[in-house]
Amino acid sequence: MELLQAVTAAMAVVLLALALGHAPPAAAEREATCAGIVPMRRRKEVISIREFGGVGDGKTLNTWAFEKAIYRIQHLRRRGGTLLYVPSGVWLTGSFNLTSHMTLHLARGALIKATEDTKNWPLMEPLPSYGRGRERPGGRYASFILGSGIHDVIITGENGTIDGQGGVWWNMWRHGTLPFSRPNLLEFIHSTDIHISNVIFKNSPFWNIHPVYCSNVVIRYIAILAPRDSPNTDGIDPDSSSNVCIEDSFISTGDDLVAVKSGWDEYGIAYGLPSTSVTIRRITGSTPFAGIAIGSEVSGGVDNILAENINLHDTGIGIHIKTNAGRGGYIRNVTISGVFMSRVGKGIRIVGDVGDHPDGGFNPAALPAVDGVTVRNVWGVGVQRPGDIEGIEGAPFTRICLSNVKLWEIGRQRQPWKCTAVSGAAVGVHPWPCAELTSTMAFGSCFN
Ligand SMILES: *[C@@H]1O[C@H](CO)[C@@H](O)[C@H](O)[C@H]1NC(C)=O
Ligand SMILES: *[C@@H]1O[C@H](CO)[C@@H](O)[C@H](O)[C@H]1NC(C)=O
Ligand SMILES: *[C@@H]1O[C@H](CO)[C@@H](O)[C@H](O)[C@H]1NC(C)=O
Repeated sequence: MELLQAVTAAMAVVLLALALGHAPPAAAEREATCAGIVPMRRRKEVISIREFGGVGDGKTLNTWAFEKAIYRIQHLRRRGGTLLYVPSGVWLTGSFNLTSHMTLHLARGALIKATEDTKNWPLMEPLPSYGRGRERPGGRYASFILGSGIHDVIITGENGTIDGQGGVWWNMWRHGTLPFSRPNLLEFIHSTDIHISNVIFKNSPFWNIHPVYCSNVVIRYIAILAPRDSPNTDGIDPDSSSNVCIEDSFISTGDDLVAVKSGWDEYGIAYGLPSTSVTIRRITGSTPFAGIAIGSEVSGGVDNILAENINLHDTGIGIHIKTNAGRGGYIRNVTISGVFMSRVGKGIRIVGDVGDHPDGGFNPAALPAVDGVTVRNVWGVGVQRPGDIEGIEGAPFTRICLSNVKLWEIGRQRQPWKCTAVSGAAVGVHPWPCAELTSTMAFGSCFN
């Protein structure tokens, strides 16, 4: 078991290295990076989880050690903050909360592993923009690692692993025995200046990394791994958050690799906090669902999104922009550029009929606006179907622009694009898309 873990961790590092290797050749000008948004900073003080009674034997429960160490950081505040060092070893623990001005540092060979004791898992209030747990009514289980209302937090190290041991949770989902919505692996709520790098995230019970109501979040040089058949193990879901930058990472999970969201139906509309200024670049990975997703929960609005240099293989849908009647909100000013995909079910899907509702209180007349989505420089091989672009009757999608998109299908059959309630333009698209995209608008208005 330990050996297997060591081997998977080593594999993840190799895959991460591959992901980095896939970065396009550095141009003469320096490549853009997220580094400046929340710079890595050194802490003046270093403490070890061992000083707080922590035992890394894979058997001792270390919840109390983490709580004591973090309480100590919070209450004996040192100027410049404190680094909590987690040495090599298997550190079994229940869920715990982070605090401001701290670095959680996972040494090489460090594995922070969630307890499988779901009975004593703490519960939390639902997020106001969701009104209830995402999968069950009422509260929801607290994230395995949680930061709430904090700032200046770094999670980094030498490629150690945070393992959610999601199997017990996935089985409860499969057997329909979940009392409340499953925990995320890492969640930040109302937090700012977050930096996550050089960590492997594994087997999340639910979504892996969920920044919600946050700003200034940098996530780079990470790997996220979960089995293909694990339910709802989204990689990174920036949610009602701004200035989020995700780059140079490998993600292979059972659900969308990156999905930008902003709350659910009437609750998200009332909360009204958009996701804005999100950059996603140099991501490699695979999933039975979507590589790059927006939605379907976009009730607070999603705008100014840039995704570039994305490398997908064996994936259900390459690019999936999804919403639904009742969501309200908007999706605007989205650019997705430089996507290579191989062996995918559907290349591009921009649709208005995806996702369920929190309860009967949603307003079916709350129609989302989708305007200004540009997808360019996409190269797909082994694509089963090129795509669907289907707006909502009464709220057609506008300025949907495809440029230099080549989706090579499997075999010789030609599956057509499906389009309804959409306007926009297309140039250099193979197979040629629907008339709605070619004739209604001059291509120049795609870029303004
Ligand atoms: C962590 O993994 C990355 C990617 O493989 C590698 O570049 C980096 O050197 C590793 N860091 C350490 C401390 O091993
Ligand atoms: C962790 O933070 C949450 C949210 O602020 C809070 O409800 C919970 O009581 C905290 N848990 C501990 C052990 O401090
Ligand atoms: C559109 O989004 C990009 C980020 O992707 C941003 O730089 C640009 O200013 C936005 N345009 C408008 C008109 O807001």
